[in-house]
Amino acid sequence: MSSTPAADVFAMEPPEARLLDGRKALVTGADSGIGQSIAYQLAAHGAAVAINHLGDSKVADAMAQKIQNAGGKAITVPMDVTQEEQVRRAFALTADAFDGLDLLVNNAGVERPFRLVDMELEWWQKVIDVNLTGTFLCSREAVRIMLERGSRGTIVNITSVHETIPWAEYSHYCASKGGQRMFAQSIARELAPYGIRVVSVAPGAIETPINQDVVADPQRRKAVQDEIPLGRWGNVSDVAGVVAFLASERADYIVGSTVFVDGGMTLSPRFD
Ligand code: BGC
Repeated sequence: MSSTPAADVFAMEPPEARLLDGRKALVTGADSGIGQSIAYQLAAHGAAVAINHLGDSKVADAMAQKIQNAGGKAITVPMDVTQEEQVRRAFALTADAFDGLDLLVNNAGVERPFRLVDMELEWWQKVIDVNLTGTFLCSREAVRIMLERGSRGTIVNITSVHETIPWAEYSHYCASKGGQRMFAQSIARELAPYGIRVVSVAPGAIETPINQDVVADPQRRKAVQDEIPLGRWGNVSDVAGVVAFLASERADYIVGSTVFVDGGMTLSPRFD
């Protein structure tokens, strides 16, 4: 069983249940799918949230408004995570607005299948740039701010079950996600002595705009579902709740781990 709260319904958690009061967060790719749910979840738990969007700000603006109307804190920040200067500016803007930054969620990601023989260099690079280089650029900027201000921050990387499960026709995507994991674990070691925790959340098959073509095709949808021991696709809220917990002090001793939120997909004997 799972609840499927509509992504556009927002309410603050009651004060005594809030896990992230006073925290200052930036979520990349926060205006759709898993990122949107994470932004709402962090804000509901009392964090001030910078909602990153690329291009049109309409959805991000509406989200910020909704959070503010309910008594939460949010701003919107335009940024292409692959562009160094834009990243620098977005983090400076956030740290100015919130007087610091102590939580980054690297969520922005892209995918599109190509057989190896048809793989266009442009798409190989796009996937590596957004998923992996974007994670590096944003983490570097966030950690510079955290160290400068002496804050014990947290970085949560949204990877994928494909940080470990190979996936035919998604070799670029798997390379980016496996790379994200090793990057996260390496900086986790480097930053733990400063009290900065780095963790990863690896979603399985979650219904989002990124995989609407599969979700909309009953046969392909069922084929994926058959690979999930729990017998259902995941919801964005399945992921967002885990991110809020991992970002909170309750998870203070969790460093460098990946938490799989996949209904058991990584336990499946076969995946293609
Ligand atoms: C992808 C989804 C896919 C899931 C399981 C995720 O990383 O974004 O499209 O359904 O992995 O294969």
